[in-house]
Amino acid sequence: MQEFPVRDLSARANSRIVKSAVTPRPIGWVSTTSVEGVDNLAPFSCYNYVSSERPVLMFSANARDTGERKDTARNALETGAFVVNVVTEGVAEQMDRTSADLPPDESEFDAFGVERAPSTHVTPPRVADAVINIECTYRESVEIHDRTVVFGDVETFHVSEAVLVDGDLSMEALDTVGRLGGPYYTSIDRMELTRQF
Ligand SMILES: Cc1cc2nc3c(=O)[nH]c(=O)nc-3n(C[C@H](O)[C@H](O)[C@H](O)COP(=O)(O)O)c2cc1C
Repeated sequence: MQEFPVRDLSARANSRIVKSAVTPRPIGWVSTTSVEGVDNLAPFSCYNYVSSERPVLMFSANARDTGERKDTARNALETGAFVVNVVTEGVAEQMDRTSADLPPDESEFDAFGVERAPSTHVTPPRVADAVINIECTYRESVEIHDRTVVFGDVETFHVSEAVLVDGDLSMEALDTVGRLGGPYYTSIDRMELTRQF
């Protein structure tokens, strides 16, 4: 084993280790609407839930080189809402394209032909082709180094019949895509462990 103390590494080298070691990561494909009314869409793999029974989700956006917040974080803070769209294999390529850094007055929905569906509790639209959409209202944010970590309370879930079995979300039917280090993604290859206790 070799040791890599953080203080001896460049920022880039630390980032590479973190982004490879913390894998596979879920991807939150986050839609927001700006104060000006432009619908924004971008993927975030620094994303997870922090509470499930009273569901709270988080995503973390690093600042741009200019020091400004990315559109998604800015919109969530300014408008108090965001929608997380779950990424499965069918929408993975489209999701990847929406990571392009478009100016704030251009919508990734329109630029990349992503179909919208209206939300029921918040203003930002849902991605129509995502099998799960999670509508959230802004809860709080925390600034850590160059990042804005955004927390949201889940207001409602939209789940496609395609991944429901007898009314329950089926993990056999849900082919979520994960993010790995570098240019890599991963698709689901289920492994079931049988507990002896
Ligand atoms: C799969 C994937 C995951 C990403 N995860 C993050 C992330 O967790 N945090 C982040 O700041 N940027 C992340 N990015 C980059 C953003 O999607 C990209 O900077 C995007 O332009 C931000 O858009 P916005 O300015 O409209 O919010 C990711 C990109 C991809 C393709």
